[in-house]
Amino acid sequence: MDKSPAVNPGARPKGETSEAAAAEHVRDLFDSIAPRYDVLNHLLSMGLDRIWWRRTAESFRGVLKRPEARVLDLCCGTGDLTAALLRLRPGDAEPITGLDFSTAMLDRARSKYSFANVQWVQGDAMHLPYTDGSFDLVTSAFGFRNLTNYAEGLAEIFRVLTPGGQIGILEANQPDGVRGWGYGMYFQHVLPVLGGLISGQRAAYRYLPDSVMRFPRPEQMLRMMRDAGFQQSAWDGYLLRAAGLYRGVKQ
Ligand SMILES: C[S@@+](CC[C@H](N)C(=O)[O-])C[C@H]1O[C@@H](n2cnc3c(N)ncnc32)[C@H](O)[C@@H]1O
Repeated sequence: MDKSPAVNPGARPKGETSEAAAAEHVRDLFDSIAPRYDVLNHLLSMGLDRIWWRRTAESFRGVLKRPEARVLDLCCGTGDLTAALLRLRPGDAEPITGLDFSTAMLDRARSKYSFANVQWVQGDAMHLPYTDGSFDLVTSAFGFRNLTNYAEGLAEIFRVLTPGGQIGILEANQPDGVRGWGYGMYFQHVLPVLGGLISGQRAAYRYLPDSVMRFPRPEQMLRMMRDAGFQQSAWDGYLLRAAGLYRGVKQ
């Protein structure tokens, strides 16, 4: 009998019971923190976010260097993973698509990277506005755990990938043991206070660490990816497993 803990179906900000209400809550939350998001992200991750975006992009150098490859960066937020992916594209490449449902986050991406070869699209990752087999690579950094239904989110990514297409999800993780305890202390106590003070949005910086604690552990997430049909599913832990990259291929 499988004794692993039940996996949460998806993100649920405090007090929300339905997927629709949870999604609206998450969108409003990112709209509210967008003005301070970048500053806080760099500060609270101690600058590691930049290293992790680059490392993730490097993992897909093979597909990115193909000019005709179609690339979707889901939950792109203010566009920093999108920009890291773009650095590895040849000059004549197809534009990357950066998609997010928060107007305020996307506006910041547009103004930060106004001349970049990117199409910024406002849309919902749970209902992508693309036909089956539209992309060769779908990435997401620190966005996937905010989806209100992980299994359906994976199915939607699978649907829009071409056969042979790749998925790359960079997500935070809660390490086990002593490291997990230290990480939990920082995440549950330091981050909400600092984030709340600087952004003025205390509830948002309560939700963010909670969403990491609720997110499936690597073995559970890999199982979900396999169930969605991905092959060669693997997780590469970054910095003592505080974050990591999930990869897989649609055969
Ligand atoms: C923590 S931010 C990450 C942004 C960026 N990828 C980064 O690495 O900084 C999560 C982003 O996911 C977006 N998001 C959450 N759920 C979404 C959904 N269902 N559809 C589209 N975007 C979503 C939010 O609006 C937010 O911009």
